[in-house]
Amino acid sequence: MPNIVAFGASSSKNSINRKLAHFAASQISDADIHLLDLNDFEMPIYSTDREKEGIPNKAHEFKAALQQSDGIIISFAEHNGAYTTAFKNIFDWISRLEKPIWCGRPMFLLATSTGARGAKTVLELAHLRLSRDNPSIPAFSLPSYNENFTEDKGITNETLLQEFKIALAEFVAQL
Ligand SMILES: Cc1cc2nc3c(=O)[nH]c(=O)nc-3n(C[C@H](O)[C@H](O)[C@H](O)COP(=O)(O)O)c2cc1C
Repeated sequence: MPNIVAFGASSSKNSINRKLAHFAASQISDADIHLLDLNDFEMPIYSTDREKEGIPNKAHEFKAALQQSDGIIISFAEHNGAYTTAFKNIFDWISRLEKPIWCGRPMFLLATSTGARGAKTVLELAHLRLSRDNPSIPAFSLPSYNENFTEDKGITNETLLQEFKIALAEFVAQL
C-alpha cells in the first residue's frame, strides 16, 4: 500500500488546491493518504540570519513526512504569478536540510485557480525547479475550478478528466 503525501501549496482554510490534491490521491487504488495542512508547518520567514539560530523543528517534521512517503502530490495555488508565501517558506527551510530536498520521491504536480489559466504560471515555475532533481514529473493544471470540479465528483469535465488520468497514470507507474 503506497503512502502518498498530498497537500495544497496554500494556507487557505478552504483551499481548492488542497481539495484537488486530495482528489488526486484518492484516485490511486489502495493508497494510504497522508494529507498535510501547511498551517501545521508555519515557521518564521526564512533568512540566512535566522538559520544561524537553528532550523525550526517543523521543517524537520515536514521533511520526515516526505521521507516516510512513497510519493508526493502537490497542488499549487498561484499568488501573483508565483508560489504562495506559505509554501515558499517551507520550501526554503527544507532546502537547508539534507538533499535531495524532496527525498527523491516520485512527484505529481497539480495547480488550479478559479481563472481560465488554472494557475499555470506557478505550475510551470514549480515544474521547472523540481524537474532538476527528477526529470519525469507529470503535471496537470485544472482551469476554472468552479466550473470543472465538485467536491463529491471531483473533476467533472470529461476532457480534463482524461488529461488528468494520463498524468496520474505516469505518477502511479513511478511508485
Ligand atoms: C494575494 C493573491 C494573489 C493571487 N494571484 C493570483 C495569480 O497570480 N493567478 C491566479 O490564477 N490566481 C491568483 N489569485 C487567486 C487564487 O488563485 C485563488 O485565491 C485560489 O483560490 C487560491 O488557491 P487556494 O484556494 O488553494 O488557496 C490570487 C489570490 C490572492 C489572495
